[in-house]
Amino acid sequence: MFPTLIPLLLFFIPIHAHNPAWHTLSPIPLFPRQEHSTLFLPPSIIAILGGVIPTNSTSLIPPFATTPLMQFYNLSSNTWTFRAPLPLPMNHANAAVVNGTIYLLGGLIEHEDEQGRSWQASPASFAYCPVTNTWRALPPLPAAEARGSAAIGVHDGKIYLAGGMFDLEFYGAQVQNSMAVVSVFDTVTESWESVPAQAKFLPEPRDHAGAAVSAGKMYVVGGRDHGMPHVKDTVYVLDLSNLETGWSTSKARMLTPRGGVAAGLVGRKIYTFGGEGDMSRKSGVFEQVEAYDMETDRWESVGKMRMPRHGTYAVGVEGRVYIPGGGILQGGWPVAHFDVFVP
Ligand SMILES: *[C@@H]1O[C@H](CO)[C@@H](O)[C@H](O)[C@H]1NC(C)=O
Ligand SMILES: *[C@@H]1O[C@H](CO)[C@@H](O)[C@H](O)[C@H]1NC(C)=O
Ligand SMILES: *[C@@H]1O[C@H](CO)[C@@H](O)[C@H](O)[C@H]1NC(C)=O
Repeated sequence: MFPTLIPLLLFFIPIHAHNPAWHTLSPIPLFPRQEHSTLFLPPSIIAILGGVIPTNSTSLIPPFATTPLMQFYNLSSNTWTFRAPLPLPMNHANAAVVNGTIYLLGGLIEHEDEQGRSWQASPASFAYCPVTNTWRALPPLPAAEARGSAAIGVHDGKIYLAGGMFDLEFYGAQVQNSMAVVSVFDTVTESWESVPAQAKFLPEPRDHAGAAVSAGKMYVVGGRDHGMPHVKDTVYVLDLSNLETGWSTSKARMLTPRGGVAAGLVGRKIYTFGGEGDMSRKSGVFEQVEAYDMETDRWESVGKMRMPRHGTYAVGVEGRVYIPGGGILQGGWPVAHFDVFVP
C-alpha cells in the first residue's frame, strides 16, 4: 500500500514547498486598526503608529476616531507593548525609520467645520527615540506640501515623500485631493531639502500607493488619483543618487490597478497586497498578491491574501512581509488581525 502512495507524495511535496505561506501572529491589542503606519525598527520591532479606530463597537463602519496610539510588536516574543503615543492623533501618517529613530513627517488629522467633517493635512513632524520613549518636534513640512498617505522611501539618511493626499471629505462629493509633490527630509541636518525640478513632482498625483527603495532607486507602485475608484497600475522610478534624471515611468504595469495597497520588499521584489476599489466584489477589497521584480521589470501574480485588506502598510523583514490590521470592507471595517506572508 505504501509504495503506491510514494509517487503521489513526491508529486505533491515539491509543489507545496513552493506555495507562499501565511502565518497568523498576535493580534493588535485594544482596538482594531486601519490607516495606520507600519515600520520595522531593527533589530526586532514592528511598530504601528496612529490610524483610525471604531467609535462604536457594534458598527465597524465610519465614523472612526483618529488615534495617537503607538504600539510595538516584538518579533522574538510575538507580543505587543504600548509606547509613548504620537504628539497628536494622525491617520495616513508619513513615517520612516532611520538609524534607530522613528520619523513622523506629517499626516492627516480630524477636522470639522460648517461644511462637515474631513481629514486634513497636518505638516507637524516629530522624531521618536525608542531608548528614552520620547517624541520631539522637527521642522514641519513646508505648508504647501503637507499631506498624508505619501509613498515613502529611505536612502542615505534621507526620507523621500512622494505624492499623497491633503484632504478627504466625508460630506458632499466626498472629495479626496491627491498631490504629486516630492519632499525630502535630511535626518542628519534635520531639515527639508530643496528638490531639483525634474524630481519635484511624480508624473501624476498619487496617494495610497506602494513604495520601496532598492539599489538606490525609489519605486512608487499603483495608488490612486483623486478618490477610491481612480485606481492606477503605474510604476514610477527615481534614481535617488541622481535626482536630476527625474522620475521615469516603467513600461511594466501592475496586473491589477489598485490603491490602498500594502507593499513590502523581499530581495529584488516588491510584494503588493490587497487594496481598495475592487468593483467586482461586494467588499470592494482586492485580494490579489502581486510582485514586481525590479531587476526584470516584470509583474507576477503570487496568489491571494488569506484575509483581503486595504488601508494598512506592510513591511518586509528578513524574507517575510508583515501586515498588521487594515480594513476588510471598502471605506471601513478595521481588524486587529495580524499576519505575515512568506513568499
Ligand atoms: C452603533 O452603530 C449602530 C449601527 O449604525 C447603531 O445602530 C447604534 O445606535 C450605534 N451605537 C452607538 C452607541 O452609537
Ligand atoms: C523582544 O523580545 C526578546 C525576547 O523576549 C527580548 O529579549 C527583547 O529585549 C525584546 N525587545 C524589545 C525591544 O523589547
Ligand atoms: C546614528 O545614531 C547614532 C546613535 O544615536 C549616532 O551616534 C550616529 O551619529 C547616527 N548616525 C547618523 C548617520 O546619523
